[in-house]
Amino acid sequence: MPEATYQFPEGFLWGTATAAHQVEGQNTNNNWAAWEAEPGRIINGDKAGLACDWWNGRWEEDLKNAARDGQNAHRFSVEWSRVMPAPDRWDEGALDHYREMLKGMRRLGLTPVVTLHHFTDPLWIYEMGGWENNQTPIYFEKFVRKVVAAFKDEVKLWVTLNEPNGLVVNSYVEGSFPPGKKDFKAAFRALKNLIRGHAVAWHAIHDLQADAMASYALYYRAFFPKSNWSPLDALATKSLMGSVNEVFSNAIKDGQVKFALFKDFIREAVGTQDYVGIQYYSSDLVSFTPFKPGELFTSRCCPPGAEMSETGFINSFPDGMTQALKWARQFRLPIYITENGVEDSKDTLRPSYLAQHLHKVWRAANFNYQVKGYFHWSQVDNFEWERGWSQRFGLWKLDKETQKRTRRRSADLYAAICKENGISSEAVRKYAPEVFDILFPS
Ligand code: BGC
Repeated sequence: MPEATYQFPEGFLWGTATAAHQVEGQNTNNNWAAWEAEPGRIINGDKAGLACDWWNGRWEEDLKNAARDGQNAHRFSVEWSRVMPAPDRWDEGALDHYREMLKGMRRLGLTPVVTLHHFTDPLWIYEMGGWENNQTPIYFEKFVRKVVAAFKDEVKLWVTLNEPNGLVVNSYVEGSFPPGKKDFKAAFRALKNLIRGHAVAWHAIHDLQADAMASYALYYRAFFPKSNWSPLDALATKSLMGSVNEVFSNAIKDGQVKFALFKDFIREAVGTQDYVGIQYYSSDLVSFTPFKPGELFTSRCCPPGAEMSETGFINSFPDGMTQALKWARQFRLPIYITENGVEDSKDTLRPSYLAQHLHKVWRAANFNYQVKGYFHWSQVDNFEWERGWSQRFGLWKLDKETQKRTRRRSADLYAAICKENGISSEAVRKYAPEVFDILFPS
């Protein structure tokens, strides 16, 4: 049997990613708290509740576990509604909490990556129309300036917005996120304000910190034509690429905003990106379908052979990671995989998913792509938005009643990879033997 290690570049960042509302608990002053209180919005009527109890200090336990397992970075988000509970008020105590976390991370040897907006808005922003309101980017800039001024000595890597392209679709097209609309006009207004919000944040960060690295984190879904010879399938695939993956990135490239039949130009967005942040989970095969104008004349299905996650939310198709990386490479900027992972309470799929997707990341790095880091979603099970607690993405299992954490096998695999700065045949044989022959063919 071959013995080998797929070695990653020196200085590669290995981490997990989390988001404030999903782990902190007791967030009562944001739009998600209001949304969770409405009957029928969240599966099983779940609520974030105490979440992973990070606000009471349990971040330390999780991040200690992460550092002990060889991780050298962590991506987390600062909750806007805590720092700015009202348009004219700052909560310095909330900033102290994040300062403590940053100090803790430094003690543990974890490089922080800080997200400034991960899906949640303060209730007062929500009540004035959220991202549909042109004032929202202005308030967001104030918040960003406050946070960056406070933490610029500790943080160099910033994520302005998490998955703004996904947020628009979930909130204004599918209606599964607040405000639960299905309205293309509202979606376009929100999209433009998110682009403006990102742009003002990027400029503000650079204003305050010359050597900062800032970008947004893109929801990237990989699309492949169902049939390789059909020009119509190729066209359908291209149109989904444009409307899902490129709607935000095009605006950052040249200021052009195109969504459904709407168009606009936002000059201040051009070039506001120091790296490419990719969040890749799943892929689709796409075919042209004449009777589905609402879905841009497309149908999607799971690639053959791709294993489905427990609730059917994600399929394991590592070539999608390669497509995402190839796409990201066009920008000639450093690339970070800011999220990737799978829901799997029994941890039967996660080890092979992790090993195979990381192998694709390694291949890209080996071909000289500037891939600088990987953040697994997530360190510990947490609140999964409209899916509540029905999906488990953690390397560690959480019993949310007792707050007890239990290590999953994938935590061992990821630890072996982080400590080795590479994927060794030994680790794959031990923790993901089902894909050994694929990764290490003899
Ligand atoms: C989001 C995370 C979420 C994860 C898994 C990503 O789209 O950024 O907040 O938990 O997917 O559902």
